[in-house]
Amino acid sequence: MFNLFDYENAARELIEPAAFGYQVGGANDELTLRENRRAWDDIAVRYRTMVDVSTRSLATTVLGTPVSMPVLVAPTAMQKLAHPDGEIGMARAAEQAGTLMIVSTTATIGLAEVAASTPAPKWFQVYIYQSREYTQRLIERAVAAGYQALVLTVDAPFLGRRERDIRNGFTLPTGMHIANAEISGMDVVPDATADASGLMQHFRGLHDPSLTPKDIAWLRDLSGLPIVVKGIVRGDDAVRAIEHGASAIVVSNHGGRQLDTSVATARVLAEVVTAVDGRGEVYVDGGIRRGTDVLKALALGARAVLLGRPPVWGLAVDGTAGARHVLELIREEFDLAMALAGCRTVDEITADLIAS
Ligand code: FNR
Ligand code: LAC
Repeated sequence: MFNLFDYENAARELIEPAAFGYQVGGANDELTLRENRRAWDDIAVRYRTMVDVSTRSLATTVLGTPVSMPVLVAPTAMQKLAHPDGEIGMARAAEQAGTLMIVSTTATIGLAEVAASTPAPKWFQVYIYQSREYTQRLIERAVAAGYQALVLTVDAPFLGRRERDIRNGFTLPTGMHIANAEISGMDVVPDATADASGLMQHFRGLHDPSLTPKDIAWLRDLSGLPIVVKGIVRGDDAVRAIEHGASAIVVSNHGGRQLDTSVATARVLAEVVTAVDGRGEVYVDGGIRRGTDVLKALALGARAVLLGRPPVWGLAVDGTAGARHVLELIREEFDLAMALAGCRTVDEITADLIAS
């Protein structure tokens, strides 16, 4: 296993086909899914030479939390589909790699159990339910469990139309549950129907499509935690989020799983960084598979990147050890990319490295 693509290929053989289709796929024609990758490939690096790069540091901080590298684990739902250890297996991998995991609302293990599985800092990704009362209980539990920030996902008022899942009638296998919804006293994933997967039904039935920037302030006041707004691809939206109290933005199109034909994240990152203008941190995800992608993201102004699918492939292949190895592979690639680009610290990864 020499790179992140090797892990995807190995996972394809191991995960039950409908579950793998759910994880690997995107919305409709999967154009954004492909475009996310292509956009990183399209960027060329003007590397620097004659810099003494014999020692380097990859370390940084995100909202004040130290991480060993600017690569975080994105929230991905239902990790037990990949491995019986699920979210706990992933939390251990992130801890061992010295980085931060963002735990999904739609997890197969309850948020308190995941939080308790390692002492490492974690963030909690929030989907706002139609019932504000359940949402409030969810947030109170996340605060009590010690999560250090909330990541509010704003690109999913409804779940995108993923045709693989509709064809496969994708729904959770018997014995697996969306644990946080259960604790809130809500239904587990309903059955798939002719026009919607089980997860699409779950979203339609329970999630609130009426979210506005006011909810950012609501969450912040309720939790007392910093709010990260995830799923933005425009400067004006980022500014609205910051003005309503967000501490950070994740430039993301949900890994091409929501609005197909939406713009690739690499193509809008600079616009968002310019609009935010230092008033918050900016992270990015979508198609990041190589150390050079991390380098380009930082050169375009991101403070860190998130990896969605690759750690899931690692988890499928070898539980915690596999997810950890995925993180170590990208660390090694990023370290070499920094050295070859003439950068000794993440602060030295500046905009002039991008060829226009
Ligand atoms: C996701 N993503 C996601 N995002 C979120 O905010 N809450 C969630 O529960 C999920 N669930 C989820 C499941 C699976 C299987 C995938 C692949 C993705 C989106 C995720 O956080 C991230 O934005 C993308 O995955 C990033 O793109 P890459 O790295 O997968 O290309
Ligand atoms: C997904 C959700 C659950 O992308 O965020 O499948």
